[in-house]
Amino acid sequence: MTATPVRQKEEIKTPTLRGKKRKFWKDYMLPKVAFFVRGFPDRAVVSIDVTNKCNIRCKHCYFFAYEQDKELKPEEWLQKLEELKKDGFPFRSATWVGGEPLLRKELIEIGRKYFMFNIVVTNGTHGLPNWPDVMFHISVDGTEAPHDDIRGKGVYKKIQKTIAESPDGLNISLACCLNQRNLECMEPLLEEWHSNMKVKHILFDFFTPVKGVKHDLFIPFDEQEKIIDRLIELKKTRYGDFIGVSERVLDLMRQGKRQKAIGDNCVFLQKGHSFDPMGNKKAQCMMGADADCDRCGCIVPFYLKQRTERKYILQEVWGDIKDLFKPKEKIAPVAK
Ligand SMILES: C[S@@+](CC[C@H](N)C(=O)[O-])C[C@H]1O[C@@H](n2cnc3c(N)ncnc32)[C@H](O)[C@@H]1O
Repeated sequence: MTATPVRQKEEIKTPTLRGKKRKFWKDYMLPKVAFFVRGFPDRAVVSIDVTNKCNIRCKHCYFFAYEQDKELKPEEWLQKLEELKKDGFPFRSATWVGGEPLLRKELIEIGRKYFMFNIVVTNGTHGLPNWPDVMFHISVDGTEAPHDDIRGKGVYKKIQKTIAESPDGLNISLACCLNQRNLECMEPLLEEWHSNMKVKHILFDFFTPVKGVKHDLFIPFDEQEKIIDRLIELKKTRYGDFIGVSERVLDLMRQGKRQKAIGDNCVFLQKGHSFDPMGNKKAQCMMGADADCDRCGCIVPFYLKQRTERKYILQEVWGDIKDLFKPKEKIAPVAK
C-alpha cells in the first residue's frame, strides 16, 4: 500500500474581486442569495475569444470551423469594454478563450480587471502569468501519448513544465475533453495528477460535434452514461473534489436528463454572451452556430443549470457556512 500526498479539504474559495480580497458574506454569500431570489442574472457569464491565433491545432477543436483573419487590437478591445461599461454591462464572469488566450497576456492583464471573476482556458504551452485572482483551466486531453496525438507532439511535456514552474498559489485545474480517442485515459490521468499539489481539480466534459470538425470523436450517449457512473464512483471512493465536476452536474449530463440543460433550456443560450475575436456576438455560445446543441458535451450548460437550481443553491450556502465554522478536515491517504 502506498499513500499519495494528503489533499486538504477545499477551503472556501476567496479569489480576489477586481483586485480586492473577496469577503465571505458580502462577495460570496450575498450573490448566492440574490441568485436564489431573483434567478440567474442576464449576461452574467461571458466568453471572449481573445485572439484568432493558436500555436497548436487540436484535432477536435471547434474554433477552426470559424477561423477568421481579423481580431481587434488591444486598444479596440479596451474601447469595446469601455462602451459596454457605459451601457451598464454587468461584468461578472469572463472566460478568456480563443485561439490561445495567453498569446495576448497583455490584453487579459487589462481586460480581466473589468470582471469580478476570470477563467483563462489555455493549452498550457506559454507558462502561466502570476495572476492569483484568475482560475486557469489547462486543457489536457489525456495522458501523454493520446494527448499529443490530439494536441501535437511535445505539448504534454510543455504542460508539465508550465505547471512545475508556475508561481505558487495559482488556481490551476486541468480540463479534459473526453472523446473516442482518449476515453481510456480518464483514470490514468486522475492517478497521474492526483499527487500534484499545484493542480486543484480535473474537470471532464465530452466532445461536442461541430460542422466541419472531425465527427468520429463523439462518444455515444450509452458510453457517456457508463463514464458518468464511473466518475461518480471514483469521486465517492477515491478522488473526492479532485474530480472538479459535481455529482449533480454529472447527473444532469445523463441521456435522460440532459434536455433540462441544453437546447432552449441552455442557461448560456438564455443569459450568456460570447464575443468573437472581432468583439461581435457569436451565435449560440463559444462553440458558435455550427455546434450540435443536441449532442452538446460542454460542461458549461450543465454547470449553469445546477447554479440555477434553488435546492443546490441552498445546499451550497449551507455547506459553505458549515465549512466556515468547521476545523479543517483531512482526506485520508488513498490506498493503491
Ligand atoms: C477552443 S480551446 C481555446 C483555449 C486554448 N487554446 C486551449 O487549447 O485550451 C477551449 C477549450 O475548448 C475545448 N474544445 C475544443 N473543441 C471542442 C469540441 N468540439 N467539443 C468540446 N470541447 C472542445 C478544448 O479542449 C479546450 O479545453
